[in-house]
Amino acid sequence: MERVQLGRTDIMVSPICFGCWQMGGTYWGRLPEEDLEAAVRRGFELGVNFYDTADAYGNGHGEEVLADGLDGLPRDQYVLATKLCHHWLDEPGSPRYEDLTYDYVIWECEQSLKRLRTDYIDVYLAHAWEPMTHPSETFLAFEKLKKDGKIRCAGVSNWTAEQIRTGLRFGRIDVCQPCFNFFQREAEKDVFPLCMAEGIGVMTWGSLRFGLLTGKYTGQETFDDLRKTDPDFQGQKFKENVEKVNKLKTIAESKGKTVIQLVIRAMIQHPAITTPIVGIKRPDQIEGAVGAVGWSLTQQELYAVRDTLA
Ligand SMILES: NC(=O)c1ccc[n+]([C@@H]2O[C@H](COP(=O)([O-])OP(=O)(O)OC[C@H]3O[C@@H](n4cnc5c(N)ncnc54)[C@H](OP(=O)(O)O)[C@@H]3O)[C@@H](O)[C@H]2O)c1
Repeated sequence: MERVQLGRTDIMVSPICFGCWQMGGTYWGRLPEEDLEAAVRRGFELGVNFYDTADAYGNGHGEEVLADGLDGLPRDQYVLATKLCHHWLDEPGSPRYEDLTYDYVIWECEQSLKRLRTDYIDVYLAHAWEPMTHPSETFLAFEKLKKDGKIRCAGVSNWTAEQIRTGLRFGRIDVCQPCFNFFQREAEKDVFPLCMAEGIGVMTWGSLRFGLLTGKYTGQETFDDLRKTDPDFQGQKFKENVEKVNKLKTIAESKGKTVIQLVIRAMIQHPAITTPIVGIKRPDQIEGAVGAVGWSLTQQELYAVRDTLA
């Protein structure tokens, strides 16, 4: 599979990033770990080399499941992104709090390294803007981790353009992870142009709008995971969303592709996006997703996808 440069770093990644939130065992329910691990390996076999996780996915559990999936694969042939910010305590019932202080960043990176069973993290991201720590302190910690060889590059997730601009005054941001899909395009307004101007690599989350953009729903489904309370998956709104997505079937079929492949392809061709992250539960899902690589949409087709989902 082809590789793309992650911003201005020397890290080369696949045009699809394997999303690991589903390994956490919380928001998406408890999924069979053998399926999750098999999917990690299947992705690698198919040429995917980029995996996105976070310490917060199941309070460290997601990182451990990913490490099990990657076990035995050559470390220099895959790229690991993980994140931190949501500090949890081991005492049951104690609430999480946001934390990007120097000492916590240094300490938590060590915990992620242990759970991921690796000597270094390729991409280390602040999971959210943290208002009670000055960004200069967080970036100092990131620089120390780089100097010590524990991380290769650092960046941010879910920061607004204004927050990224502030961050850039105090440190280096190589990667940004915003929410973006063709139903939710807010990032196009100011985060994407800023990232393009600054040479920041962009990996998008929610790329399939939690599965809505796969074209597999009828509008009758009910959910027992995080989608249970998501308005886009309820009643009339859900049906309208499904109707819009189903209109993509004609374009997809004309290209000999599925709707999910069409939608991911359009994300891959977005000039601001380095690699869309796709949340994966089973081997067949990553097999379906990689069908988005190695062909192209015309400008007219790209706009047909955008306009259908507008
Ligand atoms: N930085 C952040 O704050 C943040 C937030 C959220 C996510 N993320 C990252 O971004 C990744 C992607 O986002 P996401 O997982 O939330 O949502 P997503 O990629 O928009 O949607 C994931 C869902 O798409 C469906 N799917 C994937 N491949 C499929 C295929 N080939 N055929 C049919 N259905 C398929 C699955 O739905 P079913 O469940 O119906 O099988 C899966 O659960 C996450 O895994 C995580 O790594 C980051």
